[in-house]
Amino acid sequence: MKPRDRLRIAMQKSGRLTEPALELLKRCGLTFRQSRDKLFCFGEGEPVDLLLVRDDDIPGLIAQGVCELGIVGRNVLDEFRVTAGRDSEPLAELRPLGFGRCRLSIAVPQEFDYREPAQLSGQRIATSYPGLLGAWLGEHGVEAGVVTLAGSVEIAPKLGTADAICDLVQSGGTLVANQLREVDVLLDSEAVLAGPQALPADERGDLVELLLKRLDGVIQVRE
Ligand code: PRP
Ligand code: ZN
Ligand code: MG
Repeated sequence: MKPRDRLRIAMQKSGRLTEPALELLKRCGLTFRQSRDKLFCFGEGEPVDLLLVRDDDIPGLIAQGVCELGIVGRNVLDEFRVTAGRDSEPLAELRPLGFGRCRLSIAVPQEFDYREPAQLSGQRIATSYPGLLGAWLGEHGVEAGVVTLAGSVEIAPKLGTADAICDLVQSGGTLVANQLREVDVLLDSEAVLAGPQALPADERGDLVELLLKRLDGVIQVRE
């Protein structure tokens, strides 16, 4: 890949993290000119550009060196870390960002009398997080069927394609609407700043250091 001197930050194109992420970058002194396709935004002050992408693609883009930083849910970052191959560039959670809080949880239909993970043995669990779910099941010595869905996971029990689900819970509204009950938490999540474990040893690395310093100032003021 051609060396770049401008830094790139990836973030969710449209979703719950988009607005607070843009706001945070603004407070760090970064402003962007929106391009016509709106997927690449040129940084006007600092040499820092923005990529607007699907959140699930962000860890992979960092690992490939397409961008240096990403604002993404810990759930997405950790799922990538447990499923990425050994050859993949190791990623780090550089800072928790304090917004987009949610949980990755097990939820079951109302009539399922859940007390412990062992009861999930032999059951089918629908999820968009097969890596994190698989690791959690392994820790508890539970062998269950994992049904991977890209979205609308909560509908699976009603359709008869799963006995339980493992998905994100924020307000709990989606669970209630689907007659499901949250029974175990695998991960407490929030938006994080993700990056490579080893920062580039050039101007981009210095820029990251500068942004981290500004970010710490912004976060401190907010607390
Ligand atoms: C997310 C998540 C849950 C829901 C949780 O789905 O996967 O389904 O939000 O939020 P709540 O507890 O406030 O209801 P999203 O809307 O992103 O849709 P998707 O799962 O189809 O991608
Ligand atoms: Zn997503
Ligand atoms: Mg969902």
